[in-house]
Amino acid sequence: MADQPQVSAWADEIARAGRPGPGGPGIAEGPSLLIAGPTGTGKTYQAYGAVCGLLSRGVRLRWEATTTADLHARIRPRTGHDAERDLQTLARCPLLLLDDLGAAKTSEWTEELTYRLINHRYEHMLPTLITTNLPTAELRATLGDRVASRLAEMTERVVLTGPDRRRHTAATA
Ligand SMILES: Nc1ncnc2c1ncn2[C@@H]1O[C@H](COP(=O)(O)OP(=O)(O)O)[C@@H](O)[C@H]1O
Ligand SMILES: [Mg+2]
Repeated sequence: MADQPQVSAWADEIARAGRPGPGGPGIAEGPSLLIAGPTGTGKTYQAYGAVCGLLSRGVRLRWEATTTADLHARIRPRTGHDAERDLQTLARCPLLLLDDLGAAKTSEWTEELTYRLINHRYEHMLPTLITTNLPTAELRATLGDRVASRLAEMTERVVLTGPDRRRHTAATA
């Protein structure tokens, strides 16, 4: 479960804004959350924790999660595979977790893909959980201004600090 105060505050906010429905509140439009910080500070842990937090608050939602590297692989144009449909599935999903944004190798094509994905979520105010290792300026340089300025507007930003928890575990094991 997400134990970072800003992350649980975001989950509370999204849960409160839930759209009433017959089986309980469903997820509605709302702010997104960008969790930044160095490797091993618990970004992925907090992002999945936020999803669990929403589910445990009884919010009905459909969600998808992908790392940026997997996203690039999944939506790569290849024969016999409808990449456009995959992109639309992720773009329209009520809650999307985009892990390690800016960590995968980019090209003009991945930049366009990321733009279309983020722009759709931005225009429709679809809650998106994003994690990144990159500080703001580097994220802008990697993703381009169009994506960075949309992210700046649509996300609340949490910066995690502290030691690499993986190393810590290894050292004390
Ligand atoms: N709050 C926490 N409590 C317990 N373990 C945690 C916590 N945050 C992270 N971890 C563990 O620390 C390791 C690194 O966390 P992770 O979320 O993968 O970091 P990041 O995504 O920032 O690289 C993982 O094994 C994770 O399970
Ligand atoms: Mg991670």
